[in-house]
Amino acid sequence: MKNKLKLGVLVSGGGSNLQAIIDNIEAGRLDAQISIVISNNADAFSLQRCRNHNVPAIVVDHRDYTSRNDFDRHLIDVLRSYDVELVVMAGFMRILTKSFLAAFPMRIMNIHPALLPAFPGLHVQKQALDYGVRFSGCTVHFADGGVDTGPIIIQAVVPVFDEDNEERLAARILQEEHKIYSRAIQWYAENRLEVQGRKVLLKGNRGGDIRAQHNPPLSE
Ligand code: GAR
Repeated sequence: MKNKLKLGVLVSGGGSNLQAIIDNIEAGRLDAQISIVISNNADAFSLQRCRNHNVPAIVVDHRDYTSRNDFDRHLIDVLRSYDVELVVMAGFMRILTKSFLAAFPMRIMNIHPALLPAFPGLHVQKQALDYGVRFSGCTVHFADGGVDTGPIIIQAVVPVFDEDNEERLAARILQEEHKIYSRAIQWYAENRLEVQGRKVLLKGNRGGDIRAQHNPPLSE
């Protein structure tokens, strides 16, 4: 039997994306195993999710390290000790150093709750609402040296409604995050992703043919 792709998942908070990955693995929809979850926050609800599902997890608190480099070096050591093949940042609110990126070249994925390159960084839904966009969404990309700048693997689009606030928009986006992150990881597990500069090509059958979506609808 083929070995399952070994994931190391980095989290900081609630971990609903982590939960979706766990659920998809348990349901047999994702050919991967979570070898280790690392949280930089001892109070993260993600850790409870790991206990509930017997997923190994540890806390590595960045405040215990004198520099970003020391913190990242420790993360690298832990991930390597679990033979991690793909690093999955799931709401991990730390910026990675060059040495971390070099340790896992094109083997680190991140998810961001906007249609990159729009609205990188923090307070993402507020940025989108303040700007007045009609659509937002989420992006899974390979991590590179910038903030939310790496090659894009998959995006999902959600409409922004007049009555939205940050919470409502974030919840609508999260529903899509939970679908696309596992999909991106599954493609990686199937060796279907080919990075060519900024572009990530998906090998094999792509399916679907959506030409356009309008918001508000044109028919009104
Ligand atoms: C998600 O919306 C994720 O896209 C975002 O944090 C949230 C974590 O939710 N990540 C970033 O903003 C990173 N730039 P979760 O803990 O419930 O998965």
